[in-house]
Amino acid sequence: MSKIKISVAKGDGIGPEIMDVVLNIFDAAEVPLQYEFIDMGKSIYDKGFGTGMTDEAKLSVETNGILFKGPMETPKGKGVKSINVTARKTWSTFANRRHFKSLQGVNTVFSKAGIPIDLTIVRENIEGTYGGIEHMLSQDVALCRRFITRPGSIQVHKFAFEMARKEGFTKVTCAHKANIMKLTDGLFLETFYEVAQLYPEIEANDIIVDDLAMKLVSKPESFQVVVLTNLQGDIMSDLCAGLVGGLGFAPSANIGENISIFEAVHGTAPDIMGKNLANPTSLLLSGLMMLRHLGIMEKANLIENALLYTLANGAHTGDFGDKTIPGLNTTEFANTIIKNLGKEPDTNKARETKATANFHLPMRPLNQKVMVTPRAAGIIESVVGVDLFVESDKTADLIAPIFQKHLSENFKLVMISNRGTQVWPTGSVFTECVDQYRVRIEAVNGSQTDINEMYELTSKIAKDIFITSVEILRKFGEKAAYSLAQGQ
Ligand code: NAI
Repeated sequence: MSKIKISVAKGDGIGPEIMDVVLNIFDAAEVPLQYEFIDMGKSIYDKGFGTGMTDEAKLSVETNGILFKGPMETPKGKGVKSINVTARKTWSTFANRRHFKSLQGVNTVFSKAGIPIDLTIVRENIEGTYGGIEHMLSQDVALCRRFITRPGSIQVHKFAFEMARKEGFTKVTCAHKANIMKLTDGLFLETFYEVAQLYPEIEANDIIVDDLAMKLVSKPESFQVVVLTNLQGDIMSDLCAGLVGGLGFAPSANIGENISIFEAVHGTAPDIMGKNLANPTSLLLSGLMMLRHLGIMEKANLIENALLYTLANGAHTGDFGDKTIPGLNTTEFANTIIKNLGKEPDTNKARETKATANFHLPMRPLNQKVMVTPRAAGIIESVVGVDLFVESDKTADLIAPIFQKHLSENFKLVMISNRGTQVWPTGSVFTECVDQYRVRIEAVNGSQTDINEMYELTSKIAKDIFITSVEILRKFGEKAAYSLAQGQ
């Protein structure tokens, strides 16, 4: 079998220790991989590369299409962004897949109760609050923009259903908060059911994310694949890690169209760095996801069964397991897995999956791709008003006249809200306000206006009050493309 070249970044802290032993296990199992070692992480930040990676490292990943990485430290207080998040976003790894499975020898509340866990979380990996688009609107008020896009949602839903189809899952669940965030989570949910129609053999259902949190703890066996937006997925996947014994047993794959990243989910563990104490299981499990992604199924099963056999027989590093059995160091634990290659546990063996490689070498585009979905025919897009965000420590009844004096008969002041709750023309005196108001101006009778007219009006009003942000109100057909205030 010809060898597939992958880029390997050992990472910081315990990264090199756990990566070295994982690659030793791969070599002992004769995995057909060739490693191109690249420089990423703290030492590269320290050399002055603000992205945490060298140009050679970037080229290597963009050529090979696979990055296998250890944990990396993001320097604190230097204004640099996390290399982990940057790598996931820059290379468009839109789906974060994490698999949570009970492991014999790793005791949890659930294993003791005889409830097996075997579920997969697919988290949208680029959008949501992880856009990191944040502004202070005043000294008191911070705002984070949360992007949910139709193309981005379709990508992650398609990934979840494709994965389910290939790997024999029969149900995919979308978790969301569309009851509150009707436009953002609403779009995520709407696209979920659109994509589900392409996979009629797979049951599709949805659940509110807080209900999911409760059911994951009370009835985890009722889920197979759960797909979520970025932050909700982040939180729920750590909850699932807790169900199977912690972050040390939770592998992670960041999958994109061209480039995919496989990494352990824990950090660099500086407290045990260099002591040969770290548990390599999470990185090894992530490596097994990588082998399966590359279509190297038999070797993945061979190694996974050796790992499961090793754990089932009580071998463990110091951070988990039966304390009556002495803990092994990192090297000893890995060598035990190597010794057990060819062995299988009695129960709970590696799940056989069809040998379907998902991998192709990156096809380098000439330029960045702009993803736009087909527009429904006959939908007229119109501008109907503007939301002005303003800074003021006055009350809403004093703010309203400042706007009204600038409005011609074609426009009306519709409402003023504070922290999303309507405070003018009606509201409650018990609503506590901060020094940021949203002031909604609409063309009378919901009629169409002109975007330039909105900006001209905004610049006139700006002479009298500090406008911190402007959001144009649009309609797509008859549908308002903006939310109402609480109480409106
Ligand atoms: P951490 O995961 O590094 O450590 C938390 C605790 O878990 C520590 O007590 C540590 O000893 C233990 N631990 C973690 N991995 C272990 C392993 N494989 N075996 C045994 N024990 C293990 O989280 P922390 O301390 O919050 O972050 C440390 C650094 O790691 C930070 O610089 C952070 O930015 C970075 N980090 C990097 C990530 C990545 O590269 N994907 C993810 C999370 C954090």
